[in-house]
Amino acid sequence: MKGIILAGGTGSRLFPVTISISKQLLPVHDKPMIYYPLGILMLAGIREILVITRSRDRWLFEELLGDGSVFGLSIAYAEQPEPNGLAEAFVIGRDFIGDSAVALILGDNIFYGAGLPEICREAAARESGATIFAYRVDDPQRYGVVSFDGQTGLAETIEEKPERPRSSWAVTGLYFYENSVVDIAASIRPSARGELEITDVNRAYLARGDLHVCRLGRGFAWLDTGTHDSLHDAASFVRTIEHRQGVKIMCPEEIAFELGYVSADQVLKRAELLGKNDYAAYLRRRIRELADA
Ligand code: DAU
Repeated sequence: MKGIILAGGTGSRLFPVTISISKQLLPVHDKPMIYYPLGILMLAGIREILVITRSRDRWLFEELLGDGSVFGLSIAYAEQPEPNGLAEAFVIGRDFIGDSAVALILGDNIFYGAGLPEICREAAARESGATIFAYRVDDPQRYGVVSFDGQTGLAETIEEKPERPRSSWAVTGLYFYENSVVDIAASIRPSARGELEITDVNRAYLARGDLHVCRLGRGFAWLDTGTHDSLHDAASFVRTIEHRQGVKIMCPEEIAFELGYVSADQVLKRAELLGKNDYAAYLRRRIRELADA
């Protein structure tokens, strides 16, 4: 399976902060926002990744992530000149995807919770259809919303930002698809707001009876980064957990080491390159701890 991180968009809700820098490069406590979705794809076992950015921002992401080898990955880049919708990722990424299955994650989505790696691996291993994740929120009208049949528990409807949501279950920005998503995305038309909607893609799978919806319960965090307040809250959340436990959330070097993608020497070299700072000190300490374990 291959993976796409969609990191375009104007970030206008965070202006003036994001006038000159891409939202997905802003810090969430101690690391750039894009590390969080990158970590999720890694935990799902995906090593070939396409990062889609605005044309003008591409070099910044290239500078940050390079060819991915430092994380034991292969990272390629593509551009989305205009924010024409999430489903455009499969149009832009068509050649990259080839005949593989593909996961899409939004570059500003942060997930946390015990068992997440297993859940992602399960979704990646599913051979047919699509798998999406639903999360109970207080303000569902801001998201794609999925409702369920009371008897069977199966997904019944999916609507994009409904005025009167039929449930409190928002569709998160993490999606796993079989290869047919490329053709489905190519066939949908822009919505009333002018975007190729991921919700229309998911509706196509729902209509075929091939949409799996995994409900992430109370034990999980799906954090919003769409406003200054929610961004601050997300950073505080990460900081609180990291300080309490002494381990980092979504540190890609650490994940790469634990998965056996890179050696201890490679991580230590990376720490040396990063210089004298807490992140590098953390890498050195973790490598010692993991090697001793
Ligand atoms: O976050 C989950 C929600 O994401 C889902 O519940 C919705 O169904 C889905 O449509 C989407 O909601 P929005 O349309 O409100 O997302 P937004 O426009 O905020 O874009 C999400 C991220 O993707 C954001 O970081 C910008 C980036 N993006 C967005 C568009 C439309 C792109 O990179 N390219 C785009 O064309």
